[in-house]
Amino acid sequence: MIGASRNPQKIGHQVLRNLIEGGFPKERVFPINPHAEEILGLKCYPSVKDVPGDVDLAVICVPAPLVMNVVKDCAEKGVKALAVITAGFGEVGNVEAERQLVEFARSHGMRLLGPNIVGICDTVNSMNASFCQALPPKGDIAFITQSGALAIALVGWTIEERIGLSDLVSVGNKADVDDADLLEFFSHDPHTKAIAMYIEGIEDGRRFIETAKKASKLKPIVAIKAGRSRRGAAAAASHTGSLAGMDAIYDAAFKECGIIRAYTFDQLFDWCIALASQPLPKKRGTVIITNGGGAGVMATDACEDWDVELMDIPEDLAEKFRKYMPPFGSTRNPIDLTGMATREKYEGATEEAFRDPRVGSVIVLYCHTAITDPMDVADGIISVVEKLKPDKPITVSFIGGKETAEASDKLREHKIPCYPTPERAVAAMSALYKRAKYLGVLAES
Ligand code: ACO
Repeated sequence: MIGASRNPQKIGHQVLRNLIEGGFPKERVFPINPHAEEILGLKCYPSVKDVPGDVDLAVICVPAPLVMNVVKDCAEKGVKALAVITAGFGEVGNVEAERQLVEFARSHGMRLLGPNIVGICDTVNSMNASFCQALPPKGDIAFITQSGALAIALVGWTIEERIGLSDLVSVGNKADVDDADLLEFFSHDPHTKAIAMYIEGIEDGRRFIETAKKASKLKPIVAIKAGRSRRGAAAAASHTGSLAGMDAIYDAAFKECGIIRAYTFDQLFDWCIALASQPLPKKRGTVIITNGGGAGVMATDACEDWDVELMDIPEDLAEKFRKYMPPFGSTRNPIDLTGMATREKYEGATEEAFRDPRVGSVIVLYCHTAITDPMDVADGIISVVEKLKPDKPITVSFIGGKETAEASDKLREHKIPCYPTPERAVAAMSALYKRAKYLGVLAES
């Protein structure tokens, strides 16, 4: 940690604190500061060259004019990887200094992340080498972001929403390590099941497309490409110096590579959660099971918006669904179990939908009522999924705010994607269909 500061208000202090408090072994963290003896209980070294043993990663947090000198020390030490948090390079027009830095690093066998980054949050190794407030929860989504501030903000959000990440990497100016390098890495990373990206601009489009094509065969990739509007593009240019480019080109490139494009953070993570946890649908024909007519109608409209095809329920299957509803329920898709539906009814209807080979996928909606217990319903859905281990996807929506929050969390803990609105459950299902189509596993009839 080069530029570890004694001053708690400084970034170089916070990064060191995060490394220690994130759970990374203390004895493997070495603060570098020529003016200090000890920081946060760790012995300080005047230079990286004085550190005993090999150094895997140097996190650099000294002001821009000092960066080249400490990088030269890293080269002498034989360091292989650099994460340069320091700002004040290409993004403010200091292009030549950035070019020299990268050239030096590369010619001395080092790769460089940044500059102008918030750092790396690696939950697999409990390594918070960043000035984010904490590590995100452990999970299987890798998040690559060109915005550092958004990385910080979204860490808070992942904690609140219990969205598990394997890694969060802030790429900043992408002077050396870029999206393509990270896609290649995460597509082979055993801890990552889906890749989320926030992109403002891509320099080497050809390499990005070639790498993303290979990566998306191995792992689902969902990306936000910001700077779509004319003014948005101008904002991106002054933020990270990125040329946002023509949006239509990105759109076409993403489609070609099998990258699913999201437009909001909800979508980005909603879809990654579904893609990381659910089997892909092999056929069209979705069944919606609900206890609320309104939620069912909303979901039906959303299915049309998101190109999720509802199944026409054959009479023999309708007969089976009838066992789980009162006479005034409906077996026309959406399957309306009515407001009286208990755990047993949800469990039975969901099991029928999973067992029927004509059904491609299942969306379950629960509207909270005073006579039903959301936790009970969640347990029912979990028990069916655990019993059948279905080879078709399910997405769920529990609607009811605070009252349903605990049950939603439980579903997510059991790898059943649960969302607060029917439209989000449908949109997540649509992402699964898009990927199934891209990989050619979806029967088209
Ligand atoms: N080797 C190691 N440490 C050194 C050296 C050296 N050669 N020389 C000085 N230091 C020490 C300093 O003494 C200081 O420690 P101290 O506070 O105990 O005295 C420490 O390194 C830091 O140096 P400062 O000069 O105090 O630098 P400061 O902390 O003010 O700024 C920083 C450094 C944070 C890298 C700043 O230049 C910077 O770039 N800030 C922006 C970072 C950023 O925003 N990154 C992008 C994130 S993305 C987003 O949008 C949020």
